[in-house]
Amino acid sequence: MPTFQAEEAVHYDNRITRLVPGYELLHQLTTAQLQVLLPEQAQILVVGAGTGKELMMLASQQPQWQFVAQDISADMLAIAHQAAVAAKVDDRITFLPTPLVRGQRQYDAVLCLLVLHFLPDNGDKADLLAAMASQLKVGGQLFLADLMAPHSGFEREAQLTVCKTLGLSDVGVERMRHNLTHEFYPLDNMRLAELLDNAGFDTAKPYFQALGFAAITSRALP
Ligand SMILES: C[S@@+](CC[C@H](N)C(=O)[O-])C[C@H]1O[C@@H](n2cnc3c(N)ncnc32)[C@H](O)[C@@H]1O
Repeated sequence: MPTFQAEEAVHYDNRITRLVPGYELLHQLTTAQLQVLLPEQAQILVVGAGTGKELMMLASQQPQWQFVAQDISADMLAIAHQAAVAAKVDDRITFLPTPLVRGQRQYDAVLCLLVLHFLPDNGDKADLLAAMASQLKVGGQLFLADLMAPHSGFEREAQLTVCKTLGLSDVGVERMRHNLTHEFYPLDNMRLAELLDNAGFDTAKPYFQALGFAAITSRALP
């Protein structure tokens, strides 16, 4: 997994839009669904909040939503905090720079965008999904986006071609080619369904796909 520390954190915002085709659209579609789904007052947990992309988009949509922004990288969260102060929404966000543990069923929605694919399927993915399920109110909605297992033999190569079109350098493309096989633990849909079921979520509903990157929503069961 990338470290998401120091320089990697500083350069994240510039790099991510060249690495994830449709990054902006993924966040717009996630935000739109939360706008129609959640009431005026809601508690939202953002897991792997990074530099604050989803926080900034959501906080600007609804002035009463409250957030907990969790991430294991304090450097990424420090950038998110700066952005929140600049946007004057920091009073609605609690920053949590520690691993997520199981907790009370208090959140109306949980977001986990571009995070779970970095965890090996050795119990780590299951633990994070279970921690998220434990914190969601019954019926609360998970929004999950990940790099998935390739659907064809040419999908990954096409993804690298898009990255180049998006402005990634030749060196960056080669690094991404290496990272796609060495730093991600992508699931296929069947295994994702199994992990969601085991954690206490209902059937996944897809809402985004851009080559290997896909997003689903799923409700927390009683
Ligand atoms: C690709 S970034 C995504 C950030 C943000 N969600 C976005 O869409 O821009 C992945 C983030 O997940 C964080 N992360 C990695 N493993 C994590 C874990 N087990 N729990 C919480 N955050 C984690 C990293 O520190 C990093 O900030």
